[in-house]
Amino acid sequence: MKFKDHHIISMTSFSRDMIDHILQTAEKMEEIARGKRRSDLLKGKILGVLFFEPSTRTRMSFETAMLRLGGDVLNLGSVDASSIAKGETLADTIRVIDGYADSIVLRHPKEGAAHLAAEFSSVPILNAGDGAGHHPTQTLLDLYTIKRESHLDGLKIALAGDLKYGRTVHSLCYALSHYGADIKLISPDELRMPKEIINDLKSRGVHVTETDAIDPAINDVDVLYMTRIQKERFPDPAEYQKVANKLMISVETLENVKPELKIMHPLPRVNEIKPEVDATPHACYFKQAFYGVPVRMALLALVLGVIE
Ligand code: NCD
Repeated sequence: MKFKDHHIISMTSFSRDMIDHILQTAEKMEEIARGKRRSDLLKGKILGVLFFEPSTRTRMSFETAMLRLGGDVLNLGSVDASSIAKGETLADTIRVIDGYADSIVLRHPKEGAAHLAAEFSSVPILNAGDGAGHHPTQTLLDLYTIKRESHLDGLKIALAGDLKYGRTVHSLCYALSHYGADIKLISPDELRMPKEIINDLKSRGVHVTETDAIDPAINDVDVLYMTRIQKERFPDPAEYQKVANKLMISVETLENVKPELKIMHPLPRVNEIKPEVDATPHACYFKQAFYGVPVRMALLALVLGVIE
């Protein structure tokens, strides 16, 4: 399968074969990701890191992935300390970094930014989140987590929280459509999954239901995927306050769930998962954060063309 020089912008263009290939490659990377084996697969390669929004896991796991494979990273650092503060456009910034790096990972507050960057870049662009749009590399690590900790085929999954602005769930839905998933969407009425996405899922044959209550919806699912209410995307802060603490899980909420239920979250969490849940066998979110490393190693090695 040829990934060399591919831009990774949205999950909508991924086939099941492409996803499966990345997940299988990631499995082979796990030992290196854990630091148990050394590799120089990406020696001499440079990843340009451009984050116009805060990030801990996505940025650091991309950087770890490069370093563990013997590659280097070139981080733009704070936007305020770069020429962007002088008014430089994204297109110009990309055209410049494209001469310094072999691939560019970009996070940006505007939907469509990664798509635009790809038009001006001769090196592969990896979308690390474009506003409320997509977050395909998060989805690949989410799928990897589901594969490792539960099962992908015939999965029953509940996606809960901010389904309107949450880019992780937008991307995840499209990917799950390849695996015959049964998807329950749980959100306050104000934060429902966009209609276009629900229609796309239905036309792909996915069974989708919507509700505004966690209980009893989560009692028969294999995976519960919680998300943070995306405060920064609300045009009016008062609207955020109305929904801020509407969906929360505690040990009590989990009384009737399947014993094998896995709870995932892209993190950061705010109030939606009480810390007491961390000690239950359901909690899977910190493992999930680690799996970002082997998955991003696989993706980088594939788009940089050092493996096929
Ligand atoms: C998510 C994001 O940035 O979309 N975080 C992440 O990449 N792990 C989720 C969030 O910020 O709520």
